[in-house]
Amino acid sequence: MSEALKRQAAAMALSEVRPGMRLGLGTGSTARHFVDLLGEKVAAGLDVICVPTSEATARQAQELNIPLSDLDTLDRLDLTVDGADEIDPGLNLIKGGGGALLREKIVAAASDAMVVIADASKCVEALGRFPLPIEVNRFGLGATRHAIEQVLTHHGAQGGLKLRGEEAGNPFVTDGGHLILDAFFGRISQPEALSSDLLNIPGVVQHGLFLKMCSKAYVATPNGVEELK
Ligand code: 5RP
Repeated sequence: MSEALKRQAAAMALSEVRPGMRLGLGTGSTARHFVDLLGEKVAAGLDVICVPTSEATARQAQELNIPLSDLDTLDRLDLTVDGADEIDPGLNLIKGGGGALLREKIVAAASDAMVVIADASKCVEALGRFPLPIEVNRFGLGATRHAIEQVLTHHGAQGGLKLRGEEAGNPFVTDGGHLILDAFFGRISQPEALSSDLLNIPGVVQHGLFLKMCSKAYVATPNGVEELK
């Protein structure tokens, strides 16, 4: 899907931004368009304060002179705008394809509203076609991996588990210093149960299921941007 369509979705989310808002800034190629457009508004005098969900987004926002803060200074945000890897009809999401899921979830949970921007290729009937990112502590990786594999079997995963970056001999390290295991499900039939089973494993830091967190999605199609709520 073209960058132009992602930008159209980002522009719709921008129309929800009001002066004085405290914003969470997402991560990824679609969120990047939103930050770009927000930078133009800030240059034109819009007063907002933002919390980025990754070091990459922080760098982009700094280059655009967007005022930044953190969740120590601001304990609540008005709105977070972020991308997604999958969106189901109930606006449940898979996120973390870009590896920023932990900060993205912390920021979204601290926000009164989470608006997702995406192109139509991200919409699915059921989550799980996109491999579910699971962020894990480096300590005890083998044991954590074994425990996750048991959860995958219990939940009928159709594929295995891959350490992100392992094939290239360069494991991906998150902004928090953790590793990511990508779990290949095919279809996740019980996302809530899967979420709690994964979080029960001590080495799991967080996973990319964002359940009942998103209040609205702007989905760009070749015929225009659809608003899903
Ligand atoms: C990063 C994310 C991204 O929002 C997700 O991967 C979508 O990215 P893109 O807009 O580039 O398709 O969750 O951790």
